[in-house]
Amino acid sequence: TAADVLVVGSLNMDLRIRTPRLPAPGETLTGSGFDTDGGGKGANQAVAAARQGARVAMLGAVGQDAHGAALLAALQADGIDTGAVERIAGMPSGTAAILLMPDGENSIVVIAGANHALTPERVRAQAGRLRQARVVVAQLECPLDAVTEALTIAREAGAITVLNAAPVQPLDDALLGQLDWLVVNEIEAAALAGMPVPGPTEAREVAERLRQRGPRQVLVTLGAEGLVLAGPEGTLALPAPRVQAVDTTGAGDTVVGALAAALAAGRPLREALVRAQAAAALAVTRLGTQSAMPTAAEVDRLVAAQPLQGDT
Ligand code: RIB
Ligand code: NA
Repeated sequence: TAADVLVVGSLNMDLRIRTPRLPAPGETLTGSGFDTDGGGKGANQAVAAARQGARVAMLGAVGQDAHGAALLAALQADGIDTGAVERIAGMPSGTAAILLMPDGENSIVVIAGANHALTPERVRAQAGRLRQARVVVAQLECPLDAVTEALTIAREAGAITVLNAAPVQPLDDALLGQLDWLVVNEIEAAALAGMPVPGPTEAREVAERLRQRGPRQVLVTLGAEGLVLAGPEGTLALPAPRVQAVDTTGAGDTVVGALAAALAAGRPLREALVRAQAAAALAVTRLGTQSAMPTAAEVDRLVAAQPLQGDT
């Protein structure tokens, strides 16, 4: 059975410690809580899309360890097809150490582990799945050559291609030209375009500039400041719903996954963006990464309660 959304990317076990602040070098601090949760930008986007009702498949790699088994089980619990996630011998599954502050902001260190075993060859072995998917989504926690291979195969087959350029690294115009959607936050946008993005005005400018390098749509997410889109019909800005942030881990992934689900379902552009943004707003109000992501029914309720105007 073909997937609506195929996510090519990383799976990490998130190890989250709640701390009053970042410790100074040499300092020992007492934190207030610890939990583990399914994470990794790829897996997060897959879960976000699945909770919005899309049929989702994941292409990636984990180790033959307990974390890998738990990560696969978490995806399967959300109905995600994990048949294209390889279990690599002799490598640990991806891991993320997360320090979560009281304001919901976090600092993360990622160890790629088995995510780095995703090669262009392994991607090519799944070409059939890539060609059948309606939307193919990738990020940059797996090797760039594998991501490029996946997006190239998907594009040739006529899928909608989405790249979330996180963590950011230099990208050539050949890759950017394969994209229907480039999704970046303000930091990634600034790094790719080589200009600072202090607010929505500059975000518009930077989105237009990045669009000239090839993507059909460039979406810049600005957290509590909403998002900005540059596309063939010009630019559009949407404010974010006002919420109390508890844990922003995976907020950007929730935008990407919910957007992919909305695109696969053929929703109109503005509605897709409103839903993606509402999904992220809900996710940040709860502790957790994948466990915090909302269902389609929850997004329906928030969208109905907080109709967003935005300007064009
Ligand atoms: O985007 C959030 C994710 O980044 C976390 O789940 C962590 O695993 C890192 O990949
Ligand atoms: Na959260």
